[in-house]
Amino acid sequence: MRVLVAGGAGYIGSHTAVQLAEAGHTPIIADNFANSSPEVITRIESLVGKVEFHEVDLTDRRATAELFASCRPDAVIHFAALKAVGESVERPLDYYETNFGTLFSVLGAMKEAGTKILVFSSSATVYGGDHPPFTEEDEELVALSPYGYTKLASERILTDVAAATDLHIGLLRYFNPVGGHPSGTMGEDPRGIPNNLMPYLSQVAVGRREKLTVFGDDYPTPDGTCLRDYLHVMDLADAHVAALERLAKGDISVRTWNFGTGKGTSVLELREAFEKACGRPIPYEIGPRRAGDRADSWADPSRAEEELGWKASRTIDDMCADSWRWQSMNPRGYGQ
Ligand code: UFG
Repeated sequence: MRVLVAGGAGYIGSHTAVQLAEAGHTPIIADNFANSSPEVITRIESLVGKVEFHEVDLTDRRATAELFASCRPDAVIHFAALKAVGESVERPLDYYETNFGTLFSVLGAMKEAGTKILVFSSSATVYGGDHPPFTEEDEELVALSPYGYTKLASERILTDVAAATDLHIGLLRYFNPVGGHPSGTMGEDPRGIPNNLMPYLSQVAVGRREKLTVFGDDYPTPDGTCLRDYLHVMDLADAHVAALERLAKGDISVRTWNFGTGKGTSVLELREAFEKACGRPIPYEIGPRRAGDRADSWADPSRAEEELGWKASRTIDDMCADSWRWQSMNPRGYGQ
């Protein structure tokens, strides 16, 4: 299939573009480099050969419609959005304009071009229940930040659109994607001080940050630090290919799938695993809790296994080894 990867120069999008090509599909990447770099395209091409790339602002409806008219994709995987929870609290309007703007442009352009398949990036942040594991059937959904609200509301918008059209839509709820391509050529490259744990650990290991601050050790968990379901980005990239191929069968209107390993790992456990992977000490201190963090979150990933034949296969040690390979080979990320 010809697959438009909207936001394909970003962290998950770039790995998905590579796995699409490896699976025999043709990725067509669209990105405006708002939170990524042209170097990503070079790296993708070093792995899978020449790819079609378009520099487009996908909040621009006309430009998006022109893009679809010229490349006529069979399907879209829509990653193009802002994703930092804390920043979304400070700049809510930017989040609403960008995340809804790109969604509306893509839906409008799909209608005009007759594209029927859409895979959408949602997030485990929508789960509001007390106790994991979370299943797609859980009805207690929350939006704890403007970012979270864009994901929750986009799921609702897409559910309504699916009911009224002949589109085939997948809503993919990611838990905590980490790691990079096993070649060390691609990985996560946050701008400024990383908000997320794995890139922070990598930057301490490489000497860019002095030490990790663990946000709270008084949670009701075995070691007092938060539990999360970390998932290798290559497993997540494969999940997009599996969802796409399932939707292409044409019998699903809209379906939600969780993507995680089904296991919780604590902050201190991940720090220890990373120390082992990089062979360097990762100093840390215990700080106060971070506002908005929940104690624990992990997936029930059984629906994805039953319906898509997808199961996470990479371990926490693989995730740390690949994050470290990326960081050590590219100490300044895509800026080299
Ligand atoms: N943490 C630290 N120190 C740090 C960074 C993080 O102790 O410097 C802790 C956090 O408190 C949390 C854990 O590490 O307990 C994981 O934090 P991340 O920021 O890496 O991940 P989150 O689970 O908070 O958020 C991620 C994505 C969101 C998404 C959410 C879904 O960043 O986009 O998962 O649950 F919405």
